[in-house]
Amino acid sequence: KDTLYKKAVEVLENNWKEGFSIPCAKLYPFQWFWDSGLIAIGFAHFDMKKAEQEIETLLDAQWGNGFIPHIIFHTESDTYFPGPDFHRSDLHPQSSKKYRSTGMTQPPVTGFVLEEIYKISKDKPATLKFIEGVIDKVYFNHEYFYDNRDPQNEGLVYIYHNWESGTDNSPIWDDIWKTMNPPEYTFERRDTTHVDAAERPSKREYDHYLYIIDIAKEHNYSDEKIAELSPFLVQDPLFNAMLIKSSKSLIKLYERIGGNEEKIAQLTQWQQKAIATFNEKLYDDSLGAYVHYDLRNEKPIKFLSSSSFAPIYAGIPSKERADKMVEVMLQKFGGDHQYLCASFDPDSERFNPKKYWRGPVWVNLNWMLHNGLKAYGYSDVALRVKQDTIALMENNGFYEYFDSRKDMHKDGNAGYGGHNFSWSAALLIDLLE
Ligand code: DGY
Repeated sequence: KDTLYKKAVEVLENNWKEGFSIPCAKLYPFQWFWDSGLIAIGFAHFDMKKAEQEIETLLDAQWGNGFIPHIIFHTESDTYFPGPDFHRSDLHPQSSKKYRSTGMTQPPVTGFVLEEIYKISKDKPATLKFIEGVIDKVYFNHEYFYDNRDPQNEGLVYIYHNWESGTDNSPIWDDIWKTMNPPEYTFERRDTTHVDAAERPSKREYDHYLYIIDIAKEHNYSDEKIAELSPFLVQDPLFNAMLIKSSKSLIKLYERIGGNEEKIAQLTQWQQKAIATFNEKLYDDSLGAYVHYDLRNEKPIKFLSSSSFAPIYAGIPSKERADKMVEVMLQKFGGDHQYLCASFDPDSERFNPKKYWRGPVWVNLNWMLHNGLKAYGYSDVALRVKQDTIALMENNGFYEYFDSRKDMHKDGNAGYGGHNFSWSAALLIDLLE
């Protein structure tokens, strides 16, 4: 375990740039929102200064309206497509003047990351002082979401692009692609020069991805216009669970800091409404877990994925529902021949155990599940998720994602996507502590 820990530290050191981390060389050569947050948790265990800088740099790229972009393009790089010239964040009147970025966001992890960092810290007063200096920006980000991403005032926010979900090419989106007919774009893929195309989204999928961005750009990334016109408009259980979990953390941290009664009251209000609607609208009784809701076409998207279980991390389900979810998870995703937890239903014909978010196991989701299961008192399953996660990295290295089928792991070649991937290393460090 010691050598694995040391190797993980090395991965993080190598992916550290001036003031932020890249998720991995070549494939992802900039700063990504949710990567950055999860990476900071890893750094907090051995280099608190870097953990703090990671968060500060991320928040420094916040827009005038509270929005935080999904990629911050700190440097020029020709190893990534689509870059800043495609995204054109400058079209938005309140975008950052300092950094070029995308005009979409990613799961809002920052609130709970601050709480994790505080828990890890060995110098609590100093860390609380740091948190005091940045927490209002995170609050402002939540305010952005509730003010601009909830057109029906339900307490749930939408995402307008699959890249906002973090689960980029999940089969969840397949039916949405069928409602669209984007042009055939001419462009040069970069990702598939670094990673086997069998492990990445298809060209046609990229056409859809680019087309949604073009629609948003046509309207200068106006939230109102996006809500009105984007063919992709989804209430995502993973994304909303992250927001709820982060709000909970902000409440706890504000209480620790003292004062801030109004913000605490507002957060509590968002929180209560969000959890109520989440449980009413996103829980699917027949599947025994949470599902996505297609807000554009007004219908639930009834598939099981690792996102279906993520609400456990945010304390959203009742104990009774959580019991059912754990049962479903073990039955479908957790057989003796499987590593927990595949990113998509292994029994579905859409399952593909090598292709990015269409089936492989991801360390970030496992980390959330582990923590959530532990908090609910499912210590055996929590332990299993932890052991599986460690075994995946011991067998294969710090890959971006892993095959869930145990028989694929015999020769240590069941890690896919980017190698020396930062959040895999960062969260392993946290799991080993
Ligand atoms: C990619 O380029 O695949 C990224 O995940 C987008 O966020």
